[in-house]
Amino acid sequence: MSQKEKEAYASLLNPSVSNVPVYVPGKTTPQIVAEYGLDPKSVVKLNSNENPLGPSPKVTRAVAEAAGSASLYPTADASNLRQALTRYTGFPVENIVASGPGMDSLIDALNKLFIRKGDEVILPVPTFTYYGISAAGLGGVPVCVGLEADYSLNTDKILGAVTDRTKIIFLCSPNNPTGNVVTAADVQKLAEQVNAIIFIDEAYVEFSERGNLSGLVKKYENIVIGRTFSKAFGLAGMRIGYALAPAWIISNLLRVLPPFSVSILAETAAVAALDDLDYMTDGVKTVREQRKKLIESVAKQTPYKAYPSEGNFIIVDVSPNTSKEAVDVFLKSGVIIRSCDSFQNIGKNTVRITVGTAGMNKKVMEAFDALKKIKR
Ligand SMILES: Cc1ncc(COP(=O)(O)O)c(C=O)c1O
Repeated sequence: MSQKEKEAYASLLNPSVSNVPVYVPGKTTPQIVAEYGLDPKSVVKLNSNENPLGPSPKVTRAVAEAAGSASLYPTADASNLRQALTRYTGFPVENIVASGPGMDSLIDALNKLFIRKGDEVILPVPTFTYYGISAAGLGGVPVCVGLEADYSLNTDKILGAVTDRTKIIFLCSPNNPTGNVVTAADVQKLAEQVNAIIFIDEAYVEFSERGNLSGLVKKYENIVIGRTFSKAFGLAGMRIGYALAPAWIISNLLRVLPPFSVSILAETAAVAALDDLDYMTDGVKTVREQRKKLIESVAKQTPYKAYPSEGNFIIVDVSPNTSKEAVDVFLKSGVIIRSCDSFQNIGKNTVRITVGTAGMNKKVMEAFDALKKIKR
């Protein structure tokens, strides 16, 4: 193809695309094994906040049984799952929508509903990066507002960033990567003072000991809660999310989400997971216990600072080491963790570590021992 032809095709590209920041995913075990020449069996993957216990065995069986139905379309709106979610969430079907792939697709759909070129979304940073990526793809402008030094939310700073182009304020509770939660009072203040949608990402809410904020959806017509089966339910690979929202938003989300967006196997898995809540709550109990122990161990046995967390992960400031050094030392110890460098407003010295089982966390502490010893 000639250069001229290439340029002609490139000129067709939606100009918003060049403003889209690239999402930086955590690496997979096979990628790391190949890069570092590690033994796959000895590798512990704690970089993507996945569930180290895996899905319920009842889910695995249900998916295997449903595999023969892979030739069929599911219901267009995942109605079995929406029904099953009424029992789990206490909301009627008209306040629930299921989304695939994952909650990411819900974020896309919400942005599609509200963002026109030049509209703004407010992101308290550091936070999950996909909100801004998704909005930028539609010509939206991410407006970043820094969290405080302890990573708490400053609602006055957010209110100060609101303009008449602000369409969505993205809040994340517990926040990825910092692990802290947003209070109901803060959300109410924003919901009442701003003519915009308040999205509360509760991807990690099951791990929190502070409860959830879904009750606010019953009081406000501009609050949307996003949830996922990727974390507490151990179904990240199945890619299923859902929203709790006022009926007017749900009916509009159903217009813009692609039909059949939750696959038949994903829907089967999610429904089976909701039928085995004991498995999920047992796993959450393990994570809460191990999270507490991990934070205490880092405080007692290392010179580094671990922050409190309500998620299934913690962040650790490894200064004077850089996060890149820490990730490298951990990898050599067979533990994959995440550098927070790709998040805004967190600096170059912070790592995020998924809370694993007692055995995995022992390996984490061994890796910290190795990090303490490196020459700088
Ligand atoms: C805060 C937060 N929201 C949303 C997601 C995406 O969820 P899903 O796997 O359902 O797309 C993640 C994934 O890590 C996350 O950390």
